[in-house]
Amino acid sequence: MLKYLIFGVFIAIASSSKLATVVFKKGPIGNIEGTVLLNQTDDGVLITGSISGLTPGKHGFHVHEKGDLSNGCLSTGAHYNPHNKSHGAPGDTERHVGDLGNIEAGPDGIAHISIVDKIISLGSDNCIIGRAIVVHEGVDDLGKGGFDDSKTTGHAGARVGCGIIGIVDDSGANAIQGFSLVVICTSVLAALLSKFIV
Ligand SMILES: *[C@@H]1O[C@H](CO)[C@@H](O)[C@H](O)[C@H]1NC(C)=O
Ligand SMILES: *[C@@H]1O[C@H](CO)[C@@H](O)[C@H](O)[C@H]1NC(C)=O
Repeated sequence: MLKYLIFGVFIAIASSSKLATVVFKKGPIGNIEGTVLLNQTDDGVLITGSISGLTPGKHGFHVHEKGDLSNGCLSTGAHYNPHNKSHGAPGDTERHVGDLGNIEAGPDGIAHISIVDKIISLGSDNCIIGRAIVVHEGVDDLGKGGFDDSKTTGHAGARVGCGIIGIVDDSGANAIQGFSLVVICTSVLAALLSKFIV
């Protein structure tokens, strides 16, 4: 029976891929434009896309706690930090869940983004769906700049744009998870039946 259970659970884990997107629009809430795709893979969440309208150089790139744009990017709150840690670099153990480091724009003001992060998720713990991604005017010092706000915001300055993290597709994951639930239930039933019959 254990064998069948492990098989069912394995299917559930191996197929939990999900997609989300964030759209950044020029207008009342920002000066930047672009789209990023977030893809839950076995290695973490893959974030890809490009954002234009930036000043050349590095810009803080963070998940903020609220998907609330009622007062522009200001109403997205602080960095998403459910474990009450200090601000840090994406590779640090002491970091906010929302700490994704910097994106870097070229001389044309466009940042091409390709980030893999193992802490954020589109499903279980540390889920960022319904929250916001904020792009900052300045460089995130990753907690090491020695400024008053280095350990909270990375001293990254004003918010030049933001967008809400929305679901693109989670139907595949649901269908297959439903399927694996059927596999588990059937295995348990089969094991129980064989116990009574043999
Ligand atoms: C998401 O990532 C998986 C695994 O790397 C890949 O097979 C799939 O094509 C990706 N989906 C999109 C829309 O990029
Ligand atoms: C979060 O951590 C700080 C110290 O880093 C502490 O002062 C504060 O009370 C903590 N808040 C909660 C809700 O645990």
